Amino acid sequence: MSIIILAIESSCDDTSAAVLKDGFLLSNVVASQAVHEAYGGVVPELASRAHQQNIVPVVNEALKRAGVNKNELSAVAFTRGPGLMGSLLVGVSFAKGFARALNIPLIDVNHLNGHVLAHFIKVEGEENKQPKFPFLCLLVSGGNSQIVQVNAYNDMKILGQTIDDAAGEAIDKCSKVMGLGYPGGPIIDKLARQGNPKAYKFSKPHVSGLDYSFSGLKTSFLYSLRKWLKEDPDFIEHHKTDLAASLEATVVDILMDKLRKAVKQTQITEVAVAGGVSANNGLRNSFREHAQKYGWNIYIPKFSYTTDNAAMIGIDGYFKYLDKDFCSIDKPAYSRVSM
Ligand code: KG4
Repeated sequence: MSIIILAIESSCDDTSAAVLKDGFLLSNVVASQAVHEAYGGVVPELASRAHQQNIVPVVNEALKRAGVNKNELSAVAFTRGPGLMGSLLVGVSFAKGFARALNIPLIDVNHLNGHVLAHFIKVEGEENKQPKFPFLCLLVSGGNSQIVQVNAYNDMKILGQTIDDAAGEAIDKCSKVMGLGYPGGPIIDKLARQGNPKAYKFSKPHVSGLDYSFSGLKTSFLYSLRKWLKEDPDFIEHHKTDLAASLEATVVDILMDKLRKAVKQTQITEVAVAGGVSANNGLRNSFREHAQKYGWNIYIPKFSYTTDNAAMIGIDGYFKYLDKDFCSIDKPAYSRVSM
């Protein structure tokens, strides 16, 4: 009998539902919340309210697009954390109620594991190239920057992570001070394609081991910008493409320096990238260059699986279903936790 999973993701500002059949994606619906743009960042209370409005229509749409009746579902998988508590509570409560009403198992998924396992989502008629275990995954999002060693679907070890800001957070904050809008990542990416990545130099961190730090880069960017604006009040307008390209290049260098070190230490050359920042074209190009230069087998996700989506929660849910790794209804949401 087929295993059909309904997956729910509501950890931050995207309400998403997906349906998967035997690991193949049937539908993946994402409702993004434009309401935060005016504030230059996610406002938790507004995010929870928007999830509350979106969750039922998004789930209905996912079932409809998949051509699946709710009575055919085998289980409901949901993001239990980490994320914004108010946002998580909407998806968690919905998933619990839905599974209880249908009398089917509940499967809790760690949002970060979901990002990593996005590489295993299969789509009918596509190549579906998947990493072989063990592989390394550079997990870069708005809240996390980690190098993860993935030994199996359910066996991941963090080799290094940020000790302060995440890569996406640093890009978003620099974009905000440039007055470019939110979220900054896609805007910086677009501008960077037209700029010179060597135009400006920003400081790089000296952190031991495989850990990252991005707060120094942010300070160095702000400090330089203040100095240049004193000399030319229109500096940003005149130089925004070069500023974006140089900022992006510095972030990519910092990320790839440690990743190369991790490959050297572990001798693992299967290397994947995941999370919102993996949509970045500079980072994707650098991955391709590393594959050529160092012989890595690289895995770059489709754009639709980089930012938050329920498809990745569904694939993790599918593997957990095979292991009969179910969750009891009394398990609460959690806002912060390591894998
Ligand atoms: O994974 P994600 O959707 O949310 C978290 O779980 O954090 O990642 C969001 C982050 C934001 O910082 C956003 O600016 C960044 O991913 N991002 C990008 C790009 N698209 C999204 N950063 C750089 N280049 C992009 N094209």
